[in-house]
Amino acid sequence: MLQDISAFTQAQTAGQRPLQVAIIVPTFNEADNIAPLIARLSAALTDFQWEVIFVDDNSPDHTADLVRQLALTHPHIRIVQRVGRRGLSSAVIEGMLATAAPILAVIDGDMQHDEALLPHLIRAVADGQAEIAVGTRYAAGGGTQGWDATRLRLSRAATRLGQLALRSPLSDPMSGFFALSRETLSAALPRLSGIGFKILLDIVASLPQAPRVAEFPYQFRNRVAGESKADSQIAVEYLMLLADKTIGRILPVRLLSFLIVGGLGVGVHLAVLGLCLMLGIGFVDGQVAAVAMAIGFNFFLNNILTYRDRRLRGWRICKGLVSFYAVSAIGAAANIGIGNWVHDMDRSWWLSAMAGIVVGAVWNFAASSFVTWRK
Ligand code: GDD
Ligand code: MN
Repeated sequence: MLQDISAFTQAQTAGQRPLQVAIIVPTFNEADNIAPLIARLSAALTDFQWEVIFVDDNSPDHTADLVRQLALTHPHIRIVQRVGRRGLSSAVIEGMLATAAPILAVIDGDMQHDEALLPHLIRAVADGQAEIAVGTRYAAGGGTQGWDATRLRLSRAATRLGQLALRSPLSDPMSGFFALSRETLSAALPRLSGIGFKILLDIVASLPQAPRVAEFPYQFRNRVAGESKADSQIAVEYLMLLADKTIGRILPVRLLSFLIVGGLGVGVHLAVLGLCLMLGIGFVDGQVAAVAMAIGFNFFLNNILTYRDRRLRGWRICKGLVSFYAVSAIGAAANIGIGNWVHDMDRSWWLSAMAGIVVGAVWNFAASSFVTWRK
């Protein structure tokens, strides 16, 4: 069977060199950038057998349709269209898995990366000079155009944080412009997080050993068409990625986020209770108000942080809030019940309380992820 296929493909591709490299381009609302980017890729990649794979998250501006239209007459062009999904990193991973090419390169779809660097990145990997070749903004000769001091400082701080957390050898770990071999991808694949925007960092931190890296400086251009998708959410996702790549092996990052939110909820509880006591409201009534406020606070914060990928919107918020109150009520009963039970066994008060808190928290986490934020 395999022989039949290879005879068939040999006939089909007689005289044609095998595919060498796939360029993966994640896109969301980049319609105006597609045609010019393809023209630039074609000019830059004349020495290679290449294909470009756009991974589009069903952009409302119909980027995917436009790619298909161009692909009709350009056999280099392919599309992966994802529906009901978002995320730069996961898009890049799926694009890489959708090609047979032995070398994979990633570039943004908005022409902010310098495509003239692509042949250097590809050759560095093909020649075995490096396992990952990275376009960097933060090495001599690289840079950013017209960024103000605040943006520069923020980017540098995030860069340093990434380097520290992951003991990374990269000068620009946040870069989204790089090339690697399929073997390197395969080695990272089982441990990839796929969270957020920073796929290079994810790959490097998922490898069993630090990779050999070659860096190529370039000037990060300003965006001409379309809009950046970077928002406050990407800062949260960046921290989640770092958490997943560090303590994530011990504690799932979603549980960690849930626990941090719960900890903040304790603060809300105490603040509300304190306020009630100041206003002369009795302790029991104050406790009721404090618990109600803390649970509501936890619901909203978990909805935008812990479960940002399953975020409830519109009327589902009301339904979710009700179910979260129900889950939390059972959690509180379990908390008190377990606490009393341990206490009855003649344990210290704090150990008993902690036992109750742990069981209550784990219940709340598990039950709310199955009920309130069900997939
Ligand atoms: N499929 C998909 N899904 N693509 C996305 C998504 C998404 O949810 N969000 C963004 N993209 C695409 C954009 O269309 C663009 O092609 C590319 O990913 C980068 O997104 P921008 O919104 O332009 O981000 P940026 O300019 O702030 O940052 C980029 O460049 C940095 C410097 O190299 C990112 O690639 C960073 O990761 C990178 O460090
Ligand atoms: Mn951009």
